[in-house]
Amino acid sequence: MEKAVINTKRKKGKISKYIYGQFAEHLGRCIYEGLYVGEDSEIPNKNGMRCDVVNALKELEIPVLRWPGGCFADDYHWRDGIGPREKRPYMVNTNWGGVVENNHFGTHEFFELCEQLGTEPYISGNVGSGTVREMRDWVEYMTFDGDSPLANERRQNGREEPWKLKWFGVGNENWGCGGNMRPEYYSDLYKRYQTFIRNYGDEPIFKIACGAGDFNTRWTDVLMREQKHLMNGLSLHYYTIPGSWEHKGDSVSFDEDEWYKTMAAAVKMENMLSSHTAVMDSYDPEKKVSLIVDEWGTWFDVLPGTNPGFLYQQNTIRDVLVAVLTLHIFHNHCDRVIMANIAQLVNVLQSMVLTEGEKMLLTPTYHIFRMMKGHMDGELLDVDCAGGVYDCGGTSVPEITISASEKNGVMTISAANTRLDCGKTVELEIRDSAVGDVSGELLSSSDIHCCNTFDEPDKIAPVKLDVKSENGKITFTLPAAGAAVLTVKLS
Ligand code: AHR
Repeated sequence: MEKAVINTKRKKGKISKYIYGQFAEHLGRCIYEGLYVGEDSEIPNKNGMRCDVVNALKELEIPVLRWPGGCFADDYHWRDGIGPREKRPYMVNTNWGGVVENNHFGTHEFFELCEQLGTEPYISGNVGSGTVREMRDWVEYMTFDGDSPLANERRQNGREEPWKLKWFGVGNENWGCGGNMRPEYYSDLYKRYQTFIRNYGDEPIFKIACGAGDFNTRWTDVLMREQKHLMNGLSLHYYTIPGSWEHKGDSVSFDEDEWYKTMAAAVKMENMLSSHTAVMDSYDPEKKVSLIVDEWGTWFDVLPGTNPGFLYQQNTIRDVLVAVLTLHIFHNHCDRVIMANIAQLVNVLQSMVLTEGEKMLLTPTYHIFRMMKGHMDGELLDVDCAGGVYDCGGTSVPEITISASEKNGVMTISAANTRLDCGKTVELEIRDSAVGDVSGELLSSSDIHCCNTFDEPDKIAPVKLDVKSENGKITFTLPAAGAAVLTVKLS
């Protein structure tokens, strides 16, 4: 029996809802086919956005959506994606498979998608191959309410009112695909580019500087030392990869060793955040600059027979465990991490949804995101859990991970068991509040290789959790490789 105590009056900070953000890039079949099929498609759509996918995603209450990249962002020229579609120039998507990009999904379509999803837009600007003028003009085109050639051009293209845009990223991975820059060079460019991002709307733009990948704290150090007063957020990218970049491992056929290596790779996010926040703390103890983990998730080898540039992988209960471990780490760093964007929304990497022509399925990761959404904007509660840990190649992995938050008198508790060989019965003692109604959902799979397919789309889906609640103690069992989310009324 695993015992934990939840102290409902010991609040540890607000879990920003934006930690449950998403990312959609012009990569593979994420935008085209996955989200956008065009108005003339036989697939039911509203203004070109496929209805099945949008309706499914609405359930997640996605707080923020990052677009257009990724690496694509630093090769993207926004003017190519406005005006009559048939007149928009083509380009080659050199980052992702060398396929032709027809620019039919551009600025107007992105905001339309955000409106349909009820999500806030987060735009990544082009520093790598774009000009300062290009970036400043894009912001004016999108957000200026007055009489200007750019605002009028937007009106001519069908949008009278300016859009609300809060989140803006100044480049993406400029240490790599975004220009192979040194931090000092990017830092100077950041200062220049951000100068011209004007605030036309009611709410100032939240400027996000390109941050480090993995453990590159030198990048963080330079950016914080030189530009902390000019940024609201600094990004960080980290992917969970059980193998090497060359041989990442298969998304479905993996052995126990790879399972545990994946868990260990996921919990490295803890060290990653601690390392970067230590640097940030040294320059910014008041935590004015937020850490924005705008790319994270599993990255496996592409499914055999698919375009290597499309990053198409399947999704199993292993992905669920990675999501729970990682989201719990974000919760614990909620004083600094105010946004995270899992990669990516549809058909790319650790997706929520997969499509094949007119068919669609929900992945196990979709289910856990829906189950955990009660944490969004909740107050993180103190959880005291003495659960065991195991060592995996020098990384300590918890056997059990538990996180709890409270919002409007309702507590959300998420828990997962990383062990493959045994289930775990968990007893939660709830202190300082009376426990009312308790309910829960369980996501697990007796076969860890099982995934939802277009023929059998519901092989992994949540079921009702068997929960006992007595005298302030809540008891339930997590099967091996299982995750559960409980909802508890407090008084
Ligand atoms: O998400 C896929 C790619 O990973 C992004 O385009 C890039 O920013 C990162 O390297």
